[in-house]
Amino acid sequence: MNSPVMQGLNLNAPAYVKNAKLIAWVADMAALCKPETIYWCDGSQDEYDRLCQQLVDAGTFKKLNPAKRPNSFLACSDPSDVARVEDRTYICSEKKENAGPTNNWMAPAEMRATLQPLFDGCMKGRTMYVVPFSMGPLGSHIAHIGIELTDSAYVAVNQKIMTRMGKAVFDVLGVNGDFVPCVHTVGAPLAEGEKDTTAWPCNAATKYIVHYPETREIWSYGSGYGGNALLGKKCFALRIASNMGRDQGWLAEHMLILGVTNPQGKKYHVAAAFPSACGKTNFSMLVPPAGFEGWKVTTIGDDIAWIKPHEDGKLYAINPEAGYFGVAPGTNTLTNPNCMASLHKDVIFTNVALTDDGDVWWEGMEKDSGNTPAHLIDWQGKDWTPEIAKQTGAKAAHPNARFTVTAGNNPALDPAWDDPSGVAIDAFIFGGRRSTTVPLVTEARTWMEGVYMAATMGSETTAAAFGAQGVVRRDPFAMLPFCGYNMSDYFQHWLDMEHKLEDMGHTLPKIFCVNWFRKDEAGKFVWPGYGENMRVLKWMIDRIEGQAQGQDTMFGIAPTYGELTWTGLPFTAEQFKTVTSIDKAAWTEELKLHEAHFEQLAYHLPTELVETKAALEQRLAAI
Ligand code: GTP
Ligand code: SPV
Ligand code: MN
Repeated sequence: MNSPVMQGLNLNAPAYVKNAKLIAWVADMAALCKPETIYWCDGSQDEYDRLCQQLVDAGTFKKLNPAKRPNSFLACSDPSDVARVEDRTYICSEKKENAGPTNNWMAPAEMRATLQPLFDGCMKGRTMYVVPFSMGPLGSHIAHIGIELTDSAYVAVNQKIMTRMGKAVFDVLGVNGDFVPCVHTVGAPLAEGEKDTTAWPCNAATKYIVHYPETREIWSYGSGYGGNALLGKKCFALRIASNMGRDQGWLAEHMLILGVTNPQGKKYHVAAAFPSACGKTNFSMLVPPAGFEGWKVTTIGDDIAWIKPHEDGKLYAINPEAGYFGVAPGTNTLTNPNCMASLHKDVIFTNVALTDDGDVWWEGMEKDSGNTPAHLIDWQGKDWTPEIAKQTGAKAAHPNARFTVTAGNNPALDPAWDDPSGVAIDAFIFGGRRSTTVPLVTEARTWMEGVYMAATMGSETTAAAFGAQGVVRRDPFAMLPFCGYNMSDYFQHWLDMEHKLEDMGHTLPKIFCVNWFRKDEAGKFVWPGYGENMRVLKWMIDRIEGQAQGQDTMFGIAPTYGELTWTGLPFTAEQFKTVTSIDKAAWTEELKLHEAHFEQLAYHLPTELVETKAALEQRLAAI
């Protein structure tokens, strides 16, 4: 017999845990992973404080100077474990074609056979934390429950911030409730009496981030970082939830959600999909610039949206998360003052630099004050000075350094941010990071054209994923690493939504395509971005209200120079042209890339997309 009790391991399940399926599963997983002890998280502040202290004692956390950053910590990861590992991420559907050409696939039986010996004894010498969490407001009809088993206390405390985590989840689960089982290990078992020699145990050689969409399971091995390890986020709320959404008629998207209120008090809601590290957190916390007095932007979510059609024919969006796991580098009081204000206390920082007075620093933080510290300890624990940086190019913070903070810290948090009904979406925005070709903003003439724009979106790769950076790749809907099934079926799901909503007799949300990242010949961004993106957002609202005529272009309806509000920003018609022009040669090349993209996605590719491409080619030929 292999049961944990037979091995002398106490399950330690609290009396309030009544779900037989859960208890049996934890027993099975304990028998497999063979942890030294099992700890059931209750989500209390006391527990959070205790686990943080334990992480300090283990050297994983450094407590920051309480006078500068109360109740905040810095964790520095192993240099081999700094971002999501897309080439180690698998969708193990029964049939390969259901994972589609954009996902790694292995037959479930084969993957289970591969993982079995890896998970066998993987938690030896460690504690298995049972982390109960709800994606979406606890107990609401749109929420879903997950239970993450992890041997990382860092994961447990991050989950407390990122999700609704704790005891109340067991009440919602009751005796018969359902949950998504998520198993996570850093993949570094300790032999009898062996102690960790590193503050960030992980498995440098072997990593697997595995999803079984049919049985709705997540298994993660070898990494302790971000989306690889905080399994409620990309693994559950996007890859598994996109499968749920497909089956049940809703959408799980890599989108921020914001509210924007005009000076007359009318409020609109916008959901925007930008690829990883391409501006979602920033846009969701936007502070309107000079000239936009009376306008207000409020955050509902910064990374993930679950969107459902309602009986009134509108699409309602909720943020399934409860905190932000945001990119630190580039953030300062000029680019994102609301974000900086969110980070004053109760923050976990990962892979930023440590100042001599026990505070944090990252590249770009100096851009407001002009002050770069004379000395720092960089994210790898080495001395850093501006001189060293000049000589070696060493970064003080890793480019994918992040902060974990509760949504409640955000001064721009929308009052409806955790309303289980969600907010009615007036517009969708899609935008990649493109130095050339794609204009600042255009509006799709039809839902179909909007789906085309999203489906063919390209973006230069960033440090959010392990691998080469700055290479243009197609990132449809900003979901390339996150769509848990065949991408072309996902396109069809979006196309079907139009007819579903139209049948309900309501106006569809408008769809816009943006690009904040066009560069000039000197390689500098031309568009000032950040808060100035309000000017583009205002034009979108004018379009919704029928107050801006726009002009027809090959790639949708674009604003004229005069239609954007320029108060407070010196931006010439010439500069405007640089960020909005449509270059025939560049677009001829671009459409060839769309062609290649469609060839890759040929299985189940909706024919309407191919027809839309032909129509765009005709428009281009006429230029
Ligand atoms: P994930 O959390 O990885 O999904 O990323 P995100 O989309 O939330 O990205 P985030 O808002 O954190 O931005 C990432 C990087 O893009 C930061 O370095 C920002 O400084 C930069 N950035 C954001 N908005 C703009 C913009 O409008 N213009 C320019 N030039 N850079 C921007
Ligand atoms: C992203 O990469 O899009 C993120 C960060 O939001 S992670 O949670 O690590 O995936
Ligand atoms: Mn993201």
